[in-house]
Amino acid sequence: MGFFITFEGIEGSGKSTQIALLDEALRQQGYSLVRTREPGGCAIADQIREILLHPQNSALNSTAELLLYAAARVQHVNEVIAPALKRDQLVLCDRYTDATKAYQGNGRGLNQQLIQDLNQIAAGTVVPDLTILIDLPVEIGLSRALSREIAQQDDSEGRFEREEIAFHQRVREGYLSLAQNESERFIQVDGTLSVPLLATEILEKTLDFLHRKKASL
Ligand code: TMP
Repeated sequence: MGFFITFEGIEGSGKSTQIALLDEALRQQGYSLVRTREPGGCAIADQIREILLHPQNSALNSTAELLLYAAARVQHVNEVIAPALKRDQLVLCDRYTDATKAYQGNGRGLNQQLIQDLNQIAAGTVVPDLTILIDLPVEIGLSRALSREIAQQDDSEGRFEREEIAFHQRVREGYLSLAQNESERFIQVDGTLSVPLLATEILEKTLDFLHRKKASL
């Protein structure tokens, strides 16, 4: 039986670093896994990602944005996530349906019922078994994200980083309330911890979850 683990957090929360470290640690323990991300994760969804994240698309309508996330997800779920779970692999995904609730729902103020319906169409029964929320203050996250953009001399994915601070604050609050309402599924960790400390905590909690799940089968 496969397991589906998602990572969530605001900009600059350190998800990508932590997901790579967890991937490596779990492989060392013998897990067969697939690491992927949203938006993207396969050729067609990667093309939609470019539209969604490029700063030149600042005129993108919020509802069009929501539908593009849903379209990318349908493709990704069918092409990558569902087949991997069927092969009994562990799937680690950088962002998923909770991101749509937090960004398009809390951040943009779109109707949460509409988002839930679209998530249901796009994801169906492919729902996360475990979600790791890396939480941190928006000022810290944004300054990390901007330094990374400057260091890499690449702003081709910076459309959301250009949103006002209040937007990111609403996204953070959205995530925190999701984690509170679904405390069984979420593990919330402190994104201001050092990279190694945070990686150790995430690995311990993930292994604990996997052992409990396997014991209950
Ligand atoms: P990331 O790869 O740096 O996490 O960037 C993905 C961006 O897309 C990030 O700003 C969050 C945003 N996003 C949404 O707004 N809604 C979604 O459903 C997903 C998956 C991502």
